Amino acid sequence: MRVLVTGGAGYIGSHTVVRLVEDGHEPVVLDSFVNSRPSVIARLEELTGRTIETHSFDLRDVDKTNALLDDGRFDAVIHFAGLKAVGESSQIPLEYYDNNVGSTLVLARAMDRAGVPVLVFSSSATVYGELAPVPYVETHEPLASNNPYGRTKLVQEMLLSDVATAGGPRVALLRYFNPVGAHPSGRIGEDPHGVPNNLMPFIAQVAVGRREQLQVFGNDYPTPDGTPQRDYLHVVDLAEGHVAALEYLSDHPDVVERAWNLGGGHGTSVLEMIAAFESASGRPIPHEVAPRRTGDLAAFWADASRAETELGWRAERSIEQMCADTWRWQSGNPQGYPG
Ligand code: NAD
Ligand code: WQD
Repeated sequence: MRVLVTGGAGYIGSHTVVRLVEDGHEPVVLDSFVNSRPSVIARLEELTGRTIETHSFDLRDVDKTNALLDDGRFDAVIHFAGLKAVGESSQIPLEYYDNNVGSTLVLARAMDRAGVPVLVFSSSATVYGELAPVPYVETHEPLASNNPYGRTKLVQEMLLSDVATAGGPRVALLRYFNPVGAHPSGRIGEDPHGVPNNLMPFIAQVAVGRREQLQVFGNDYPTPDGTPQRDYLHVVDLAEGHVAALEYLSDHPDVVERAWNLGGGHGTSVLEMIAAFESASGRPIPHEVAPRRTGDLAAFWADASRAETELGWRAERSIEQMCADTWRWQSGNPQGYPG
């Protein structure tokens, strides 16, 4: 399949581009590089041994997006493009709604008019909100989120489902849990701009000496060691989940819209993650306990049985592999991508 990958230069998109090529598909990247670097593309070409067709513009540009979709002969789109920082989304909610919902609206229209039949969408476990029982199941209702970022995901899910039900592109709503890790080559990985918001890139930057110490946001949660538990999954497993969903929708024209959790199905605490990274890297991770971070939940993980039954997908890679691959990436690229 010839697949347009919006946000294909980003963290998850870049790993998915590699996987698509490995599985015999032809990815085409569309990215504005608002949160990634053009030098990613050279790394993707190095890893795949082929030229990666790349278009550099903002998805909200209606004319350019329509022209690309009209002429592109795409069989499907995987839609990663968007802003994703939970804290920032409370400070600049308009930017988040404009970028996330706006780009999805422009893309859905362009796909509809060009007749591109299949869309795989990056959603998030944040749509289960604060009250869903753990493990989270796709059938849980009502969906909710406690932050503007998460609410843009909810709106996008509803928008895409409505369009699909009305005969537009059929859609897979992939609800990711906590993606971490890097390609085992160490050539691509997560490269956040500024201070990392998420645990794993922060730990990696402490290990490599870019930051002095990690703050552990709270150790008085009702969990075995007092720190929150999350369902971390390796980004290469996640990339494989996208290809599985793409192929499933293409093979099942009767499936109009469907949500799948992509997670490992168990929780790992902050302290367990620190210990695993220390062991994988051979470096100490200095850390201190700090106050809880607003909005954090104590513990959640996926019921990922629907993805296993229907897509034949499960997260295979261990916490140790996630740490080892992150460390290979971070130690080989201490300052991230060049440029
Ligand atoms: P990322 O920021 O690394 O990648 C997103 C890419 O989209 C970037 O390369 C950015 O430049 C591009 N982009 C943003 N807005 C754009 C626009 N309007 N037009 C064109 N390009 C644009 O983020 P990621 O971690 O790879 O996440 C990918 C998707 O997965 C996002 O939609 C995110 O919300 C979702 N998601 C991420 C996580 C996570 O923890 N990383 C978890 C759940 C869901
Ligand atoms: C994990 C744990 C922190 C940093 C976020 C989004 C979610 C999804 C994935 C997009 C928590 C603790 C963290 C630090 C810490 N993204 N922590 N010190 O919050 O589970 O999920 O990313 O959809 O929507 O909310 O992930 O990696 O930020 O935090 O102690 O410096 O690590 O408190 O318990 P989170 P995270």
